[in-house]
Parts: sequence; C-alpha cells; structure tokens
Amino acid sequence: MSAKKIISVLGSTGAQGGGLVRAILDDPDGPFVPRAVTRNAGSANARALVELGVDVVEASLEDEDSLRAAFEGAHGAYVVTNFWESMSADVELAQAATAARAAKAAGVAHVIWSTLEDTREVLPVSDQRVPVLQGRYSVPHFDAKADADAFFRDSGVPATFLRPTFYWEGFAQGTGPQRGEDGRLVFTLPLGEARLSGIAVEDIGRTAYGVFAAGDEYVGTTVSIAGEHLTGAQYAAAFADALGEPVDYRPLTPDQFRSLGLPAGDEFGNMFQFYVEGEYDFVGARDLDLVRTLNPRLQTFRSWLAEHVETVRPA
Ligand SMILES: NC(=O)c1ccc[n+]([C@@H]2O[C@H](COP(=O)([O-])OP(=O)(O)OC[C@H]3O[C@@H](n4cnc5c(N)ncnc54)[C@H](OP(=O)(O)O)[C@@H]3O)[C@@H](O)[C@H]2O)c1
Repeated sequence: MSAKKIISVLGSTGAQGGGLVRAILDDPDGPFVPRAVTRNAGSANARALVELGVDVVEASLEDEDSLRAAFEGAHGAYVVTNFWESMSADVELAQAATAARAAKAAGVAHVIWSTLEDTREVLPVSDQRVPVLQGRYSVPHFDAKADADAFFRDSGVPATFLRPTFYWEGFAQGTGPQRGEDGRLVFTLPLGEARLSGIAVEDIGRTAYGVFAAGDEYVGTTVSIAGEHLTGAQYAAAFADALGEPVDYRPLTPDQFRSLGLPAGDEFGNMFQFYVEGEYDFVGARDLDLVRTLNPRLQTFRSWLAEHVETVRPA
C-alpha cells in the first residue's frame, strides 16, 4: 500500500489544477500522489490523466456528497472554482461554500483555496467612476472569491489562501499584440504606466505544490504569487524581441476600454482599473523571491514567451 499522501485536485482537467497534477507527477519520489477530480471522467482531458496513471474520480462543486467522497482519505485538497462557466458571483460563492464544508467533513488536513483580492478595497462600489456589477461587486470574479475566503476560515479547515494573477496565456486570446491598419503591431491594454503582475499558468500549480510540500508553514496564511511584474511598455518590448518586429504600446483609459463593447468589457475594464490604482499593494504582495522558493522553476515573461511565441503571433 502506498504511503504517499493524496492530494485531491479540483480543476485537474483545467489550467490551474492540471498544473498541480503535473507538478506532483514530476516529483515521483516526493510525498504526494494526485487524485484528479472532474465532472466527466470520459472527457479527453480526464482520459489523458488516466493515461498518465492518475486516479481520476468524478465529483462536482454542485454536489456536496460527491465532493466529500472525492476528498475522503486525502491529506490535501486544491480548490479552484471556474467563475467563467456561470459568470455568476452567486454560483461561485455557493461552490466555494460547498467545497469548504466538504473538505471539513472529510477531515482534509490542508486545503489550498485559489482566491483573489477584494477589489472593492481599491474601487469601492460607491465609486461613481466604475460600474457596479452583479449588484454588489466591482470585479465579480475577484470579489466573490475574496468573499468566499470566509467559508474556508469559518469552517475551521486548515487552509492556505493562494492568490494567483493574470495568466500570460491570456495574451494568446486576443489581448496580445494586434496588427493595426498601418501594418504595425500594437499592444493595447488599459494599464497606463502601471505594472501588471503576470504568471505562466503552469507555475500556479507548481507553486501550489511547493505550498503543500512546505507542510503547515503556510496554513492560515495568504500566499500571493506572480512570475514577474512588467509595465505595458516592458511587455511590448519583450513581444517585439520575440516576434522580431517593433510593437507599440497603446495604453487606453479604463473608460475607453469599457466602451469598446468587448465581452465582459465592464468586468475587465474594472479589473484593469484595479490593477492600475491598486498597483502598489497588488505588486507589493507578490514577492517573487518567495514564489521562487516555493517553485524554483518559476518562469519570467521572456522565458514563457520564448516557449509560446507562436501562440501570440498575429497574422
Ligand atoms: N485567466 C486568468 O488570468 C486568471 C487569473 C487568476 C485567476 N483566474 C481564475 O481561474 C479560475 C479558472 O481556473 P482555470 O483557469 O484553471 O480553469 P479552466 O482551465 O477553464 O478549467 C476549469 C476547470 O474547472 C473544473 N470545473 C468547472 N466546474 C466544475 C464543477 N462544478 N465541479 C467540479 N469541477 C468543475 C473543470 O473540470 P471538468 O470540466 O473536468 O469537470 C476544469 O478542470 C476562474 O475562476 C478565474 O477567475 C483566472
């Protein structure tokens, strides 16, 4: 019988949880073994995990009994909710509450809850400059996670509050450089002169692995992570070097960005306004030396870009 401790991983078929499963597998002599949680063990991503020899179990954040069973016997649990599936803060809150109760009931010794800052500390809903979203939020996918911290704290389950940040993979989904009508590449973000903390998504799971491996050192604490903090001009310079042609940085104001009519444009406009106005605290909370201690393979933006340049190359 294996003496290894089980880490039950929500989101194992996705970006954050998948990174943690791979980080555990990357350390075959380490103390942990993953248990991958998915709603559908027959999906291509779940079957790929089975191929790697991972124990895959079905459970849902919408079904507390299933989740408790998925956590039973586990030492640790990684809990991530996917706001973007419902785009509802209330759904995200309910799912997080379910996970906290299930982890407590199963007697899990260490939960990592993937959370984010409460942007209302910088952009209160009384601030007339930003639209209030879903009745009580400035950036629902941040604020609901921050509100959900209380479920883990109040449940009494030993928890670490892991705060990731903007995935650089997002640059491959339309936020990277685009070719303007004059043929030049333009990198457009409503970031002003502020720094944007970013991270390679694979490093979130790797860093979570470091938190589990540190035992109870980070239980009860918030660990805020990033790979690097760069200004828009610095991102543009890195894109230019990787793409082999100039890239102009074009900062929009938050209002200009919100008025573009993009999907979830208010949500993202408010988020970037938070990054700019809350820059000092957001960047300051993310100590890259600490992150590198937890995850010695932590990638810089340029090292990530070297591997992913084709994903961001515009036509
Ligand atoms: N994109 C960014 O820059 C960024 C930055 C910081 C934080 N975030 C946050 O990251 C979260 C998404 O994480 P991700 O990027 O790792 O997600 P992802 O790659 O889109 O994958 C979503 C994962 O969630 C699982 N899932 C969804 N609903 C579930 C349910 N009801 N029960 C159990 N599992 C469920 C899915 O599993 P199955 O489909 O297999 O069941 C899948 O593994 C969002 O809440 C977002 O706000 C994103």
